[in-house]
Amino acid sequence: MICIIALLAAAALPVISAQGDYCCTALYRSSLQDRLLFPNSTTYESRLDSYFDVKQRDITPNCIVQPRSTQEVSLVVKTLTVASITKLCRFAIRSGGHTPYAGASNIEDGVTIDLQYINAVEYDAKKSIVRVGPGAIWDGVFTTLEPLGVITTGGRSSTVGVGGLTLGGGISYFSPEHGLICDNVQEFEVVLADGRIVTASKTTNSDLFTVLKGGNNNFGIVTAFKFGTFNYDGMWGGLVIYPNTTIQDQFKALVNFANTIDKNPKGAAIVMPVYQSAVGSDLILNAYDYAEPVPRPAAYEEFLKIPGNISDTTGIRNMSSLAEELAGSMTSRVYFGTLTFANDLRVMTEAHKIYMGVLANLKAKATGDWGIYTLYQPLPPAYWRQSVARGGNVLGLERFNGQVLCLYQPYISWQGAEQDALFQAAGADLISRIRAFAKSIDKDNPYLYLDYADNTQDPLSGYGAENVKKMKAAAKKYDPFGVFQNLVPGGFKISKVT
Ligand SMILES: Cc1cc2nc3c(=O)[nH]c(=O)nc-3n(C[C@H](O)[C@H](O)[C@H](O)COP(=O)(O)OP(=O)(O)OC[C@H]3O[C@@H](n4cnc5c(N)ncnc54)[C@H](O)[C@@H]3O)c2cc1C
Ligand SMILES: *[C@@H]1O[C@H](CO)[C@@H](O)[C@H](O)[C@H]1NC(C)=O
Ligand SMILES: *[C@@H]1O[C@H](CO)[C@@H](O)[C@H](O)[C@H]1NC(C)=O
Ligand SMILES: *[C@@H]1O[C@H](CO)[C@@H](O)[C@H](O)[C@H]1NC(C)=O
Ligand SMILES: *[C@@H]1O[C@H](CO)[C@@H](O)[C@H](O)[C@H]1NC(C)=O
Repeated sequence: MICIIALLAAAALPVISAQGDYCCTALYRSSLQDRLLFPNSTTYESRLDSYFDVKQRDITPNCIVQPRSTQEVSLVVKTLTVASITKLCRFAIRSGGHTPYAGASNIEDGVTIDLQYINAVEYDAKKSIVRVGPGAIWDGVFTTLEPLGVITTGGRSSTVGVGGLTLGGGISYFSPEHGLICDNVQEFEVVLADGRIVTASKTTNSDLFTVLKGGNNNFGIVTAFKFGTFNYDGMWGGLVIYPNTTIQDQFKALVNFANTIDKNPKGAAIVMPVYQSAVGSDLILNAYDYAEPVPRPAAYEEFLKIPGNISDTTGIRNMSSLAEELAGSMTSRVYFGTLTFANDLRVMTEAHKIYMGVLANLKAKATGDWGIYTLYQPLPPAYWRQSVARGGNVLGLERFNGQVLCLYQPYISWQGAEQDALFQAAGADLISRIRAFAKSIDKDNPYLYLDYADNTQDPLSGYGAENVKKMKAAAKKYDPFGVFQNLVPGGFKISKVT
């Protein structure tokens, strides 16, 4: 009797579990059966809850598939593309799930490929390389390497995914000396649209190698990154909060700091005017991060002269603890947007004026718990000087020669879908008005940092015509049927760039 009931239950399982969805059923009938999560199960819900932006959590895929090896990723892609001959199986690709717009790495009425379990971090001391799965978060990378006295360029926030961040470029505290994170990749392992597993490096599939550095999810699913490593014995840094009356001194210090990064290649800094409704005052939050354990390094002299700080966590620290401090709250709806302009005091001063107006409007209209940070960070030539020698990327920064640039990013968080329009308009307003001012004094720049871009922006165009051509050619060569263009709606699509 027990046996018969068990058999009946097993027989019924495929239909019940796949909930009638054609594409999920196709996966269920393959050997991936126990890699699937379905709606209303606690495992499915907890994967949704682990997206950074609550807007991404509102999206409910028909199933989530969690491959555990490169071969299983290949089987997922083959199964979904073959099934698509009958009915289109659209899918999303997720690593850390930290993109702050809906649908970047999750999909309604489709399949989400969740790379959570492809997260191994393996250090090869002989080759000074660390091999990392895309589903790893930066905390996993830092806590593996740090005790061994080595590190790699990595994100600045512990919970962010290695996969998405690296494919968009990647800015690290080590970038002044070692370059962007994507330029520290020596080899990618990639599952192509037809399920083939290939590597891409300076010598193998070198065109694919170049376009993966900045090209997002247009070419395949990356299943491993091999990053170069270097010696490391700790850092100095932390967060310092100041009253907003110091803003002009902060900008002056930042402009000079950015202009002298060549002389101080260990130093990184971010200036962030901030307002949080729960705190209720206008403040400035600075991040100082020096890649050696030297107290109060000379590079920060001008910043350290600014009096009146309200709190200060700087000290001799390590990368994991600094990254944990910047983990970011995961309980809000979020807007990121991006803009690049010259490292120029006039643009920063005007940008802050525009911010004060936008902030006043939000204070008048917004409800509940909300906050806004506006990040100013240096993007100097040191960050891209070594790119070409390492096989190149598609960001197009070389065309700006010796120009020192500034990356600007509003990071806004709030509660409640009914306020989406208010806050998203505030972000877009900041971007468009600051851009117009920068343009009016000839200090604008076309580059848009993909990892900070809102889905209303077009970062791939900002890489320049030559790089757009390279990406289009690689997409055609490695994905001739346009699987990643047509079946994967999330991300920035090269086919949409004219
Ligand atoms: C709190 C916070 C801190 C941040 N700090 C930094 C920072 O210090 N430096 C920095 O440069 N950026 C930073 N970012 C921005 C970050 O780089 C982007 O949000 C990035 O998209 C996150 O990557 P992910 O893997 O977590 O995201 P996901 O949303 O999982 O993926 C992002 C995009 O990449 C695609 N993708 C992911 N994995 C793969 C893969 N294996 N193969 C193919 N395509 C893939 C996805 O489809 C999606 O389009 C930060 C973001 C947050 C929220
Ligand atoms: C999941 O739960 C929601 C309500 O929580 C319900 O509306 C929906 O029908 C359920 N879906 C399935 C497939 O059981
Ligand atoms: C990094 O710093 C944290 C906090 O001080 C500490 O707990 C941790 O052990 C440190 N890691 C290493 C590898 O020293
Ligand atoms: C500082 O904040 C106050 C409100 O707290 C505001 O009135 C003032 O304009 C702000 N000044 C600057 C320079 O941001
Ligand atoms: C912050 O203020 C305290 C107290 O005045 C001071 O000792 C400290 O050096 C300041 N920190 C920075 C980073 O300027």
